[in-house]
Amino acid sequence: MTRARPARVAVLISGEGTNLQALIDAAAEGRIDARIDAVLSDRPAAPGLERARRAGIETRVTGGGKGREPELAAALQEIEPDLVVLAGFMRVLGPDLVRRHAGRMLNIHPSLLPRHRGLNTHQRVLESGDTHHGATVHFVTEQLDAGPRIIQYRIAVSREDTPESLARRVHRGEHIILPQAVGWFADGRLRLEAGMCSLDGVRLEEPIVIEEEAS
Ligand code: GRF
Repeated sequence: MTRARPARVAVLISGEGTNLQALIDAAAEGRIDARIDAVLSDRPAAPGLERARRAGIETRVTGGGKGREPELAAALQEIEPDLVVLAGFMRVLGPDLVRRHAGRMLNIHPSLLPRHRGLNTHQRVLESGDTHHGATVHFVTEQLDAGPRIIQYRIAVSREDTPESLARRVHRGEHIILPQAVGWFADGRLRLEAGMCSLDGVRLEEPIVIEEEAS
């Protein structure tokens, strides 16, 4: 199914917003059939808010602090996006909010899920001696970082890598796979049905993998 209009996207951020920027650029350049209608942040000082303002996108600061999730839920209800993207949003969302957006909420996580759910993934990859690392875009479900995986960016870990070098390389890949997944969703090609992702009507038993190009 193709939409008659661009998909309306709300992006939730807490920090720099470089993934948000990748989405803004992809939409502005017509690489994805999506329009970012609103950027919401739980942190008023999130630099990503400035990126949104520069692009003329509505911003809201909401959902910060304990017990403030209903505020965020109400804001999303008002905006009524086709898709919610968590792009460096550092809060765990409650089950009600997640359920309300089931199949319409994506997250980007800096690891090759199911490895290294949660925080400090770059450090943990080095401590575990993993040979590979990367990032994953997945549908959000009630369990943290455990929803159906859509696409991954994969890099080979070298002996010289530090948490900082891994963060840099992974970030570059995130800026490729997040617009890709949002573009598929916007085109009606990507769906979540009965707990499984499908792309172009074919079930994704495993995520699509993009390898880092040798530099
Ligand atoms: C990304 O690494 C993302 O995977 C993680 O938080 C970081 C956000 O980066 N969840 P940015 O704010 O998009 O630059």
